[in-house]
Amino acid sequence: MPSVQFRLNGAAIAVDADPHQMLLDVLRSQLGITGPHFGCGAGECGACHVMVDGRAMASCDMPMWSVTDKEVVTVEGLGTVEQPHPLQRAFITEQAMQCGYCVAGILISAAALLKRNPSPTEAEVRAALDRNLCRCGSHNRMVRAVLRAAAEVATS
Ligand code: FES
Repeated sequence: MPSVQFRLNGAAIAVDADPHQMLLDVLRSQLGITGPHFGCGAGECGACHVMVDGRAMASCDMPMWSVTDKEVVTVEGLGTVEQPHPLQRAFITEQAMQCGYCVAGILISAAALLKRNPSPTEAEVRAALDRNLCRCGSHNRMVRAVLRAAAEVATS
């Protein structure tokens, strides 16, 4: 089995995997990274989003060969229980989740947005989360949480 090398949550790793296996499968079944979830399996719902070189992308639709030498960040790499990412704090404050199935992917989409645009408008937040589905209907609270996190970072 060939080895695929990339960076995962800040650490260089090499993993034995079929180059055509999907990143989501490898993260969850081989690397113990269970934040990204399998939803549609077709790049449509965002539950599996990870950041690749700063962009939110669907890991269910991403063959391992395509992440070679890339920087991959999952929700596990955003913050810790002791030091949560401002987005994670804001999602808790706004109670911006219900079942939580989609939230790891949504946090990644939001983090990618704040990375490229630290002061987004509400319309820009809505556009950035447009590829993420939440069947509980928490989108409005999520948008408020992203705006809260952006404001908190801007004033810190
Ligand atoms: Fe990857 Fe839906 S599971 S986008």
